[in-house]
Amino acid sequence: MLFKLIGEMHASEHPLTKAWADEPLKLIPTPKSKLKLTAEKKGQEASDASTVATEMCNVHNVLLRAINCILLQARNVPQSTANDVADFVTFSLHVIATISEHHHTEETLMFPLFEKHSKAGLLDENVVQHDEFHKGMHDLEIYLTQIQNDVAEYDGEKVMRLVEGFAPALHRHLEDEIDTLLKLEEYDVPWAEVMKKVTEHAVNTPNPVCTQSPTP
Ligand SMILES: [Fe+2]
Repeated sequence: MLFKLIGEMHASEHPLTKAWADEPLKLIPTPKSKLKLTAEKKGQEASDASTVATEMCNVHNVLLRAINCILLQARNVPQSTANDVADFVTFSLHVIATISEHHHTEETLMFPLFEKHSKAGLLDENVVQHDEFHKGMHDLEIYLTQIQNDVAEYDGEKVMRLVEGFAPALHRHLEDEIDTLLKLEEYDVPWAEVMKKVTEHAVNTPNPVCTQSPTP
């Protein structure tokens, strides 16, 4: 009942419009959604590699939606309050930390594990692609940190420019990686064992930046 009342209150104050964070960066179609059109219609089951690739694709779409949130809101923030700027900067820094942590885990844990059970070098191209956008993302991180430390003023146009500088390379990478993971169908990967290790790592080593509370 309480949630219903809150929902009605918010709905009347802020009528919902279609403002999803599904653009400007396009979301990536999952392998499972493609299979629905082909294999599953023929009664075939999705392979374990395809299921893992679909889960990775869902994570990548979360990352893309987070970047889209920055792109959709960056120009609106200066019209708001100083607190809104601080919150938006904190949110954006958390997005960067989450993407960095995702790729760090891939390079140090997931990709070596996948290659151990498939072919050495299979994921090299994906690691090279990490370097193509990390510099631009780091430049955004530096600028946002300067704002947090009061040594730079918030400029929505500058945030847009910095994000647009690395977003195409990031999007290309997030899309290409799904195709690479699908190649693992050709190998006998012990998926249950591999994904258990990945899950344990994720639970036991949370990124300290991402576990900080938002600014009061
Ligand atoms: Fe990934």
